[in-house]
Amino acid sequence: MQKIAIIVAGGSGVRMGSALPKQFLPLKNKPVLQYTLETFLLSFPDLQIILVLPDAYLNMGMELIEKIPLHQRIRLVAGGVTRFHSVKAGLSVIPPQTNAIIFVHDAVRCLISTKLIQQCYQQAMEKGSAIPAIKATDSIRQTINDTSKPLNRDEIFLVQTPQTFRSDILLSAFQQEHQPEFTDEATVVEYSGVPIHLIEGEHQNIKITRPIDLLIAEKFLDDPSL
Ligand code: C5P
Repeated sequence: MQKIAIIVAGGSGVRMGSALPKQFLPLKNKPVLQYTLETFLLSFPDLQIILVLPDAYLNMGMELIEKIPLHQRIRLVAGGVTRFHSVKAGLSVIPPQTNAIIFVHDAVRCLISTKLIQQCYQQAMEKGSAIPAIKATDSIRQTINDTSKPLNRDEIFLVQTPQTFRSDILLSAFQQEHQPEFTDEATVVEYSGVPIHLIEGEHQNIKITRPIDLLIAEKFLDDPSL
């Protein structure tokens, strides 16, 4: 089965407070994005990558990927105004009749392992989808107007990427109109009436969002047994 990874990095990353989008920030000796691309390229010898970047950063992206061995398997696409539109832009370069497993991954989840990518592939082949998620460890509260109520954390999961689907399911779900609640692809697919299937995620598969996340990622790269 064909394998395609849409790596989304179309956002501007305002929470990091840096001029450079977070996917280009240095982590040890190379940009965050480079780790993500290299791990996906390593996970399957026949996997193709569609890298979605903000229009203004396509040149910087091109310079980065030229440094990566195997970069012939990476194609660059300009992103859209929301994550939904960026993923849709990535999907638009896939021919409609393609039979593939498609991974959609946040570029800034640079500590993803080849093992999780391969497990997602297996489950998506069997069940149609694989959405990595980990159990919440904090106490969780939901706010309602001025009050709040506790939620049962044993029933709460934090969703990660790569959100992985059979291509027919994902391509058809993205024919829908954009809805404000579409914060990830699992939501888009469910909205189209197709149930999704979770898979155990990984604690180190963090989304680099704030400056402290870069420090955590650096420590993990120094000692992957952490
Ligand atoms: O905003 P959030 O952190 O949830 O974004 C998740 C991912 O979606 C990031 O990798 C971000 O770059 C990507 N994104 C995108 N296009 C946008 C907005 C976000 O590809 N317009």
